[in-house]
Amino acid sequence: MIIGGSASQDLAAHVAKELGEELCYVETKKFPDGERYLRIDGEIADEVTVIQSTGYPQDENLMELLFIIANLKDLGAKKVRAVVPYMGYARQEKRFNPGETISAKIICELIQAAGADEFITFNIHEACVLNFFDIPARNLSAMPAIAEFLDKSDADNMLIIAPDKGAYGFAQEMSEIIGCDCTYLTKVRLGPDKVETKIVDVRCDSESENTVNVDSVKGKHAIIIDDIIATGGTIVNAINILKQYGASEIDVCCVHPILTNNGTTRIYSAGANKIIGTNSLSSDTSRVSLAKSIADALR
Ligand code: R5P
Repeated sequence: MIIGGSASQDLAAHVAKELGEELCYVETKKFPDGERYLRIDGEIADEVTVIQSTGYPQDENLMELLFIIANLKDLGAKKVRAVVPYMGYARQEKRFNPGETISAKIICELIQAAGADEFITFNIHEACVLNFFDIPARNLSAMPAIAEFLDKSDADNMLIIAPDKGAYGFAQEMSEIIGCDCTYLTKVRLGPDKVETKIVDVRCDSESENTVNVDSVKGKHAIIIDDIIATGGTIVNAINILKQYGASEIDVCCVHPILTNNGTTRIYSAGANKIIGTNSLSSDTSRVSLAKSIADALR
């Protein structure tokens, strides 16, 4: 049995279809004072998978997820899997400054305390967040789904670019699937909405220390890949550098298209040809469905 929270209804419906499982209806509404009402309709199966991302509005979506999990257990479900394609608060996995709340830890503890028996997410910003769980927790990759979606007719001329070193693993994974080169840029974060991308620190093979001349960008169909696009500042900087070095075409891919602060417009204005995100979050750019990847993981 599959249940979709209000943030992931379409995705849940497609996962249920892939698996040929029942999609259970959840009634949610808000009382006049803003409190949430939730009712799960139908007979509860022994094993239930709840699909609910906890992006904006994070606190509401999280509360709904907790209500669904706890209610399922209360109604007799023996095993509840929480599939949270995008996990909000995952970027605060430690105290960067004294006195800060380790938000990611609290979120994991709440999901577990609500009764989740297993947790599944996609490309979580820091994999160490999953260590906050005592239940089995899996971090799936959206790279195969994104790579499959891309038009690979000019694969020979494609160059996969990570906009910072942290995203280089994604670029490597994509380039292996597609069969083209990859590299990364270097980025310094100056604040929550300000980044500086410095130079093309080009390296196509992390095993060898061979660096590739910046000329290798010239004439290439550049595909930028990142886990999250939030304000778009990181991507805009990357696009500017790639244009400067003569990329012929630039597409932008990400797993989690948060795209706040007019990020979409800023990225297109900077010169992107396409923005391709997954439906871990609903947005105009959520073109790649994670339904099959989730269904495969649940099988
Ligand atoms: C951080 O390193 C992430 O991988 C993303 O690069 C970051 O969250 C993107 O943020 P923004 O779009 O605001 O630059």
